[in-house]
Amino acid sequence: MCGIIARIGADDGVDRLLGGLERLEYRGYDSAGIAVENGVGLAVQKCSGQVNELKESVSDSGIYGGIGIGHTRWSTHGPPTDDNAHPHTDSSGDVAVVHNGVIDNHAELREELKAEGREFTSDTDTEVIPHLFERHLEDHAPEEAFREAVRDLDGSYAIAAMVEGEDAVFAARRGSPLVLGVGDGEYFLASDVPAFLEHTDEVVYFEDDEVGVIRPDDVELSTLAGEPVERSSEIVSWDPEETGKGGYDHFMRKEIETQNTSLTNAIQGRIDDEGEEPDLDDFPAGTFEGVERVQFVACGTSFHAAKYGAQLLNKAGVAAQAFRASEYDDAIPVDSDTLVVAVTQSGETADTLGALDRATAGRARTVAVTNVVGSSAAREADDALFIRAGPEIGVAATKTFSSQVVALSLLAHRISADAAGDSPWDDPRAYYDELKRLPDHVQTVLDREIAEGVADDYLGSDAFFFIGRGLAYPVAIEGALKFKEITYEHAEGFAAGELKHGPLALVTPQTPIFTVVTGGEDETTVTNAQEAQTRGAPIVAVSPADHRITDVADAHLPIPDTHPDLAGLLANVQLQLLSYHTADSLGRSIDKPRNLAKSVTVE
Ligand code: G6P
Repeated sequence: MCGIIARIGADDGVDRLLGGLERLEYRGYDSAGIAVENGVGLAVQKCSGQVNELKESVSDSGIYGGIGIGHTRWSTHGPPTDDNAHPHTDSSGDVAVVHNGVIDNHAELREELKAEGREFTSDTDTEVIPHLFERHLEDHAPEEAFREAVRDLDGSYAIAAMVEGEDAVFAARRGSPLVLGVGDGEYFLASDVPAFLEHTDEVVYFEDDEVGVIRPDDVELSTLAGEPVERSSEIVSWDPEETGKGGYDHFMRKEIETQNTSLTNAIQGRIDDEGEEPDLDDFPAGTFEGVERVQFVACGTSFHAAKYGAQLLNKAGVAAQAFRASEYDDAIPVDSDTLVVAVTQSGETADTLGALDRATAGRARTVAVTNVVGSSAAREADDALFIRAGPEIGVAATKTFSSQVVALSLLAHRISADAAGDSPWDDPRAYYDELKRLPDHVQTVLDREIAEGVADDYLGSDAFFFIGRGLAYPVAIEGALKFKEITYEHAEGFAAGELKHGPLALVTPQTPIFTVVTGGEDETTVTNAQEAQTRGAPIVAVSPADHRITDVADAHLPIPDTHPDLAGLLANVQLQLLSYHTADSLGRSIDKPRNLAKSVTVE
């Protein structure tokens, strides 16, 4: 989704702006642009298409400047054309603005501004902002004019703006992410930290309704009302190396292959060597006493991890349910005995943040399970549990799903122990011991390299179905989501028992059924797979090597023996590899699938 970058320094910063845009590419976009102040005037270059195309036109134009703003646009209002690309300017060309979010009252504002004779050149909601800024510059100094313009807006926004002749970038935030990077003799603004991480790891997060004026040697933060804000910077622990491909062809491949490391980080220090309960620093024993029910809210892959977490809690006797965040409306009963857990990799997904707001309004206690320290979800929820996966650049989530499931399983153990007054699990030690071995088991799956052959065998099939029961069900629907996201082939995930209630009508010899069994409650899944096989569908078992399903399956993606609560995670790694190799053979845009965005900041 739209990405913002700004660079404020004394020497030329065009390369840094373009580098920042490249680092933002993973969020998903269809046009890009920059504006720089070069002492002579504001120079704007923008186009639909890729950052590479923008780089060429910037190089041809020879524009330069120490202070600049840049943007990758993911279309919402108006198609991806050159005119609709950001930055947008006012009628005089003296103001340039980039924006992420949605201005709800843009239609009324546009009519007002047009009636004043201001000329619009795009279909975007954003374009009202430079015109408003221009209007207020007629009566106010730039900082106050910017503040007035922002006060006129309803909706969500992260904004970076420039005015000709001013050595400053003006910034504001409400509901869309914005972070300041404090460099050596320079500052950055961005939608997320990887955009400038190669230059600095010192950051200051903007809060909602705050305004910043950033000059090469100074930053002033204040509220929209004009009250000064003091906030110290913090250091982010991400390694800049993690935002590169590290020798792999794709970020997705790298993120799949490095899951042993990300899982080790997720687990590190959180399992007591001898105890029967997890050791979660911010969540000591008793934290969740009094919680009567747990509601998870999440989107996409995070929803599948949430479903896994809800099932673990149900197994431990705690009432838990996973909701798609966009369906979590006011009709859902919430009270102060409810714990709402928002699961979100980015911490910025608008649907999930909306659900978090509804939970807070209903007096629920809230926890965010997220990858991004300083994200909106982490700051808005009462507490946060970090999954410590490091930056994930591939649009399709892989390593973060695994780390979410691990973090949620530890949280589920904490919640259920607090609810029951003691661990309700049969043999929690056996679980923790296997959890410690999980990174090695993942490595075993990665070393086997079987998925590529299976992917080749079924290339060209009409459709791809994924089934599972119990904890294997969220894995099946995650497998199907991953497959459709990056291969563009038709893929669906079903509860194994539901196959006979409709989907069997779709089954042919051209529809392989990837059957996830984990060694838990899945004997009937074998029968369900056979029902499809009888009707001609090939069965690919994703299971431990000695599971009965391997006797009937046409092909096998093996997983090491482990605790049944963890086996789904290993099956998921096999399915990630299957999707990756299929997409690779089909020549798809694996890291940036068409039409998708990594961080979806509109509802
Ligand atoms: C987008 C991404 C998905 C992701 C979902 C939720 O749709 O393309 O990969 O699962 O958002 O994102 P979150 O950051 O909240 O986990």
